[in-house]
Amino acid sequence: MENSFIENKKILITGGTSGLGLELVKLFLNKGYYVVTTGRKSLTLQGFEERFKLYNVDFSDLQLTAKTIKQICESHEFDFVINNAGILSPYRYTSTNDGLEYTYQVNFLAHLLINEIIIIKQADVKPLKIAAITSPVYRLARHVSKSHQNESEYRHIMTYSDSKLYVALMCRHLAAAYHERNLKTFSFIPGIFGSGIYRMQGKTFHFLYRIAAPFMRRPSKIAIVLFEILTGMELTNGAVYSIRKKKKHLRKFKTSLTDAFWKENYDLIAPFLP
Ligand SMILES: NC(=O)c1ccc[n+]([C@@H]2O[C@H](COP(=O)([O-])OP(=O)(O)OC[C@H]3O[C@@H](n4cnc5c(N)ncnc54)[C@H](OP(=O)(O)O)[C@@H]3O)[C@@H](O)[C@H]2O)c1
Repeated sequence: MENSFIENKKILITGGTSGLGLELVKLFLNKGYYVVTTGRKSLTLQGFEERFKLYNVDFSDLQLTAKTIKQICESHEFDFVINNAGILSPYRYTSTNDGLEYTYQVNFLAHLLINEIIIIKQADVKPLKIAAITSPVYRLARHVSKSHQNESEYRHIMTYSDSKLYVALMCRHLAAAYHERNLKTFSFIPGIFGSGIYRMQGKTFHFLYRIAAPFMRRPSKIAIVLFEILTGMELTNGAVYSIRKKKKHLRKFKTSLTDAFWKENYDLIAPFLP
């Protein structure tokens, strides 16, 4: 095993059952970390039973998500967290158990809840770094508002882009909100890579994706870059980093807009916080 001196370091990776998340799980295990992951599917990784734990949870249910993360925090204290779980928006508007738009909840709101629970539960004695996977399309996002909750305004690509902008803004927001804590957050643009992300799309998308997948980047390569940024680089708190480890621009919105946006989101997760 490599780097046995970091054997006691712990990481939580959401969505570790497929694609980039699975590659991150395998990479961190091979580097000697204790890895906790989440997903709806099951996953066994032979030879790592003592340093690997999977919790089954569906992020389209906020109460279940909060219960599971609180349970995880009872047994584990993390050095690193990667907000990786995510979906490409379904073609048609889809509601979660909580009555919210599906992409917005799974990609963004559930992760805001997860991060807040971990930050609240975890003592501020050891440093915590949180990375969140955004996407190159966050630049296409329209605005900071929850208008996509309105079914008639739903456009699946735009809804995905919006969710990824919110993820990037979340990192900036947490960095500012907890600047006195021993916490660093950043978002990461992985580029485009082959994975299982097409699964909520229609048959034509499946077909085109399978043709293009062999020409896309491999998620194992992206996992290595993220590993290096997370564990080895001096980070600017709240920044967005590219696959080339460069800081990218994240536009500013009017304070009145972002204040209203965060209030709406915190009102939604407040009932589930510790
Ligand atoms: N693929 C790309 O080109 C690309 C580009 C830019 C950004 N990204 C981002 O990269 C991240 C990883 O995606 P990927 O491409 O590796 O996709 P993937 O292979 O589909 O993996 C997605 C992961 O998220 C989990 N997940 C999905 N829905 C969930 C739900 N409702 N509740 C809990 N977990 C859920 C899945 O686990 P279960 O199915 O077991 O629940 C799976 O482990 C996502 O945030 C995605 O937006 C991907």
